[in-house]
Parts: sequence; C-alpha cells; structure tokens
Amino acid sequence: MKEHEEAHFRELSRDLAEDIRVRRMSQYIQHGSTTTYDHVLRVARTAYRLNHILHLKADDHSLIRASILHDYYLYDWHQRGDRLHGYHHARIAADNALRDFAISPAEQAMIRSHMWPLNLFSIPLSRGGWLLTIADKIASAQETVMDRIRPSANPC
Ligand SMILES: [Fe+2]
Ligand SMILES: [Fe+2]
Repeated sequence: MKEHEEAHFRELSRDLAEDIRVRRMSQYIQHGSTTTYDHVLRVARTAYRLNHILHLKADDHSLIRASILHDYYLYDWHQRGDRLHGYHHARIAADNALRDFAISPAEQAMIRSHMWPLNLFSIPLSRGGWLLTIADKIASAQETVMDRIRPSANPC
C-alpha cells in the first residue's frame, strides 16, 4: 500500500480497531492460527486496497467499518459444534454490530451478504458488498495457505 493510503487506512480504521469490544475478537481463532481480530483487519485492508486498485469508489469508511465487523459474532465457532455456522454467522455479526456500533443500513447489508455464494439468497447489492465478499475469500485463502507453509513450532 502506498504511504498516503496506509495513513488513510489507519485513520479510518483506528476507532474500531482500537475498540475494546472489537479487540475481543483476538480471543477467538478464525482459521488455523489466525485470530478473528487479525482476520477482519486483513479483510479490511484487502477490501480497501481493491477499492483503490480497481477505482471502484466505494465509500472507504463504510467499507472498512463493515469489514472490521463482518465476523463480529464473538465466540469460537470451532467449539460450538455448529456445522451450519457458515450459513448464519453473517446475520449474527450484523445484529451484534448494529447493537454495539449503530452501523448504517448499507454496512448491515454488506455484513449480511459477505458469505455469498454460500448464502445464495443473500447476494451483495453494492460495490462495498462485493469488495467485502471478495476480500474475505482472498484473506481466508491467504490465512489457510500461510498456516500450511508455516514451520511447526515443534518439528518433532
Ligand atoms: Fe464470515
Ligand atoms: Fe471473514
């Protein structure tokens, strides 16, 4: 990311990234050894970069807010034994984000549709929604690959 974009990203993400409720996501594992907190920040950064690289002109602030809150369900889904978590966590995250941060209808819609096409009938309807959905897939793939190639702490 260019220096001015990095500064802009940090400025727009600071409020949520430093919020104690958002930081609770660092207690939960998303994929492999990546916490949900690290995952949502990776998604926010990826969505922001795509928005600029592709000149899509989605609203940066809304895009970053929705990205940081897109997995704000606040539990470790691995320990719930919930095989349908992938289908309904977007709704839970949107409801929690509305309760705690009074997010806008556009931000709610972005969060609710981020699992498309798994949630086939919850299709993204905005540029921001598409950016978040794609950035989430890219970040998840990166985290899965990084985990596979990361040397084990205990090689024996
Ligand atoms: Fe998700
Ligand atoms: Fe995600």
